[in-house]
Amino acid sequence: MSKRVLVTAALPYANGSIHLGHLLEAVQTDVYVRARRQAGDDVIFMWAADTHGTPIELRARREGITPEALIERAHAEHLAVFTGFGIGFDIYYTTHSEETTRHATAIFKAIEDSGGIASRETEQLFCPHDQMFLPDRFVKGTCPKCGAADQYGDVCEVCGATYSPTDLKDAACSLCGTAPQLASSEHLFVPLAKHEAFLRSWLKAPEDGGATRLQPTVRNYVQGWVDQGLRDWDISRDAPYFGIEIPGHPGKYFYVWFDAPIGYIGATERWCADNGRDAADYWKATPEDAEIVHVIGKDIVYFHCLFWPAMLHAAGYNTPSRVQVHGWLQVNGEKMSKTRGTFILGSTYLEHAAPEYLRYYFAAKLGAEQGDIDLSMEDFANRVNADLVKKAANLASRAIKFVGGRLGGRASVAAEDAAPLLAKARERLAAAPGLFRDFESGKAMRLAMEIAEDFNLYLTEAAPWKLVKTDPERARAVCTAVIEACKMIAAILKPALPGWAEKVERMLKLDAPLDFVNAAEPLPADLEVGEYETLAERLDPKVLDAIIEASKESVAAKGPAVADAPDYEVEPLQPEVAIDDFVGLDLRVGRVVAAAAVEGSNKLLHLTLDLGPLGSRSVFSGIAKSYAPEALIGKNVVVFANLKPRKMRFGLSEGMVLAAGEAADKITVLELDAKARPGERIS
Ligand code: 2FM
Ligand code: ZN
Repeated sequence: MSKRVLVTAALPYANGSIHLGHLLEAVQTDVYVRARRQAGDDVIFMWAADTHGTPIELRARREGITPEALIERAHAEHLAVFTGFGIGFDIYYTTHSEETTRHATAIFKAIEDSGGIASRETEQLFCPHDQMFLPDRFVKGTCPKCGAADQYGDVCEVCGATYSPTDLKDAACSLCGTAPQLASSEHLFVPLAKHEAFLRSWLKAPEDGGATRLQPTVRNYVQGWVDQGLRDWDISRDAPYFGIEIPGHPGKYFYVWFDAPIGYIGATERWCADNGRDAADYWKATPEDAEIVHVIGKDIVYFHCLFWPAMLHAAGYNTPSRVQVHGWLQVNGEKMSKTRGTFILGSTYLEHAAPEYLRYYFAAKLGAEQGDIDLSMEDFANRVNADLVKKAANLASRAIKFVGGRLGGRASVAAEDAAPLLAKARERLAAAPGLFRDFESGKAMRLAMEIAEDFNLYLTEAAPWKLVKTDPERARAVCTAVIEACKMIAAILKPALPGWAEKVERMLKLDAPLDFVNAAEPLPADLEVGEYETLAERLDPKVLDAIIEASKESVAAKGPAVADAPDYEVEPLQPEVAIDDFVGLDLRVGRVVAAAAVEGSNKLLHLTLDLGPLGSRSVFSGIAKSYAPEALIGKNVVVFANLKPRKMRFGLSEGMVLAAGEAADKITVLELDAKARPGERIS
């Protein structure tokens, strides 16, 4: 009996719509879940909407509805989109539930009983008009450093300074404009430092040589946070707060990030109750008996790799076996943008194009690393058309239609001259489950395409349409070999394209669903193939233009998503760094002596920098959309010169040029006086 596996994707906030960024994660998780099931593992996919917190409360107020009504509406919208994309979750529950409340209470009490909760008075800005404490992002004012007006309470978007909201000048409540007052209230904290020893051991690679818990880069930066010293985590918020009241502390509510991950447990409880299983078999088991796998984006690592395992461990729950982190979704090489129409809602996509195209594209682009994924519209259409349509679907259509049409519908035994290619295809099929298990879906999709490439060539050379007159049995054997290959391709594609696999199962009249093992078996003797079902049709790039246009319209129609207050809560600031920590950062004058475009990248320029007595440096810089290479020659720029060289796809980058901008085409490189001397240190 395989052990139990529980998989989650991050819980989307219930105050927003589902966009393609959410879908990247949903597809990654779904492909992983389906592939592991297909490999015989006992897997459940537990999911929910994240429903608590100030932004939800305020949005409901703005709309004149109750938070309950708001989250119910969002829940239905989320469900419709995720179902439309074929995401095979077992449950999409809500954190606003009896089950989540029960577990949040139990976890809090267990931590409190073991002396793991501290309490102290905290001063915070309070709006006398709205009668509420204001989270940092709900206070606006003048930046204390640069004087820019209309800045949030935690960070200045003009000069980048970070501060506390009490430092703002002319602070005003962003809801009503009233000047807030300082007020103090009791807050509850989890002193994370108590859990340092546990976290250090959790962060280590598992010794059994089994699955890796964290990607090495993720492990390194989480380790960095631990090394810098763990700070107390404020888990309480004052009423009014849409959330779960803290037991024994009337008027205090759990901060949304305390109960959000507990929503994973709440969803499991609900699903288990409905399906005759026991949630304790997952959450109170050991990692040996039940594997817990979270798929998340890189912005919420702090919560999933520090707070969450510490809470679970402290309260005697099972801890995650793996946290898989993906990068951002970019569209056309840039951050999704509402004005450019690249902030695409799932519902808008579904009105225009087949979900399986996007599922394939995401699966083909995703790997185990947490790099950003670019949905380039041109590449999207090309990839779908070249891979799915021209390679895989075309192969099946040529062979299956030919058998159906000219050979009376009957297959036979694969031609002997195809045996080496079939053997190679079986090897590729056998490699697929391991790749999926390592989140290397891109490599798995590649294997399917390699089989298709081999057999398209084979079919063209064997030319059964010529053979059919002289040697119909050989023509049949050739097509049979190709159909066997199509079956293996379908099994590899199946986690990403379940609909495709179903059609193949029907056409080949398979009596059991395709899996990684039965796909390698020869076709049953004298199989009568079913009628051909179209597997994929050409994706017209115009469809993608229409999606972009519609996304511009839908934003215009709805107005900005954020009217007067942000609709999200952000990760807390990283631990403070002392000014001394900057001493190690060595900034030098670099003179650009050569600059060139990088073949294969529309973002990077390859710069050669003269650092005077320190020699020259080769640096790749993501400024190609803002600068023509020749415009940089001769400029003196600021180089982060003791940055560890990084191996990039295009070569080694030996430093970093300081530059900033709100979009890839609006970057300004920090430029120094023409008289600055290359190599000199900049203070
Ligand atoms: O960042 C977000 O969108 C959060 N709603 C994710 C929560 S994940 C889990 F912890 F619930
Ligand atoms: Zn106010």
